Amino acid sequence: MEKKNIDWQNLGFGYVKTDKRFVSNFKDGAWDEGALVEDDTITISECAGVLQYAQTVFEGLKAYTTEKGQIVIFRPDLNAERLEASAKRLEMPVFPRDRFIDAVVKTVEANEAYVPPYGSGATLYIRPYMFGSSPVIGVKPAQEYQFRVFTTPVGPYFKGGAKPITIKVSDFDRAAPHGTGNIKAGLNYAMSLHAIVTAHEEGFDENMYLDAGTRTKVEETGGANFLFITKDGKVVTPKSDSILPSITRRSLVAVARDYLGLEVEEREVYFDEVKDFAECGLCGTAAVISPVGRINDHGNVINFPSGMDDMGPVTKKLYDTLTGIQMGRLDAPEGWIKVIK
Ligand code: PLP
Ligand code: COI
Repeated sequence: MEKKNIDWQNLGFGYVKTDKRFVSNFKDGAWDEGALVEDDTITISECAGVLQYAQTVFEGLKAYTTEKGQIVIFRPDLNAERLEASAKRLEMPVFPRDRFIDAVVKTVEANEAYVPPYGSGATLYIRPYMFGSSPVIGVKPAQEYQFRVFTTPVGPYFKGGAKPITIKVSDFDRAAPHGTGNIKAGLNYAMSLHAIVTAHEEGFDENMYLDAGTRTKVEETGGANFLFITKDGKVVTPKSDSILPSITRRSLVAVARDYLGLEVEEREVYFDEVKDFAECGLCGTAAVISPVGRINDHGNVINFPSGMDDMGPVTKKLYDTLTGIQMGRLDAPEGWIKVIK
């Protein structure tokens, strides 16, 4: 298989159209069998549920080329499970989990020429999603839906890759208690756009959102969960019903405990204690682990001892172990890696 002529090393996190995408339609109460298609455009009613009332949910995972040259994906069963939870919360039909994995596999296979080579620093980002496609004008769920999977080769989510970033404590809230913060719905991202554009204009890379109820506890950023390292080397990660249950974070917790022998605390994290941590990182499929060097809370600045030049030592170990598992340099726990070919 001849790879596409792409400058893999210099890819950012952007959209590159690839050859094939998977499409399945839900009509009269059932999903059709679905197919890979070449058309990257969609024609729907002007009154489609997704366009009027944002009835759409999505997932994000990656395909990696391993050291031995295999193409693998990481824990797709957890993405299938989370898409199901997201769909149910927005009154959308569930796309069956086995069919989800099958669609992801087929789409990656069909775009093999775009899977970045081992060692390039790039990966193939996979975006499964579904949306209400039939007309609704009264506020209610659509009757018809479309499920799609497309892929795009990507580099690091934050420019500079492993360089520490600077974030600000946002004046906006991301998710209400008992709201939709724990699902992956487009609406959570639409409402974060003003906050992220504002943060970028002010020179920050990302926002730290606090809990909307009390504004005292750390939640997450617009696209990643937090991990902190205490001065005595413990991993601490916020627990909240209104953050996305990150697959990367859940995997890192297992990596910390089982591979690195670190103590892990999953608990509420008060913003007041953040200044006492030694390291801070953002974790997610897109972010992998992006180190945070500095947090600005309305002019009060927290500079982590790990500094602005490099990842902190514990964050680095977590990063190396997780990416080692994903790229086949380290043995993976049972069921974490699905080999595509
Ligand atoms: N939090 C938010 C808001 C996200 O959008 C993402 C990305 O998927 C994550 C966390 C990280 O989740 P995961 O590790 O499953 O990609
Ligand atoms: C991911 O990490 O897969 C996400 O969906 C985050 C998104 C903000 C790019």
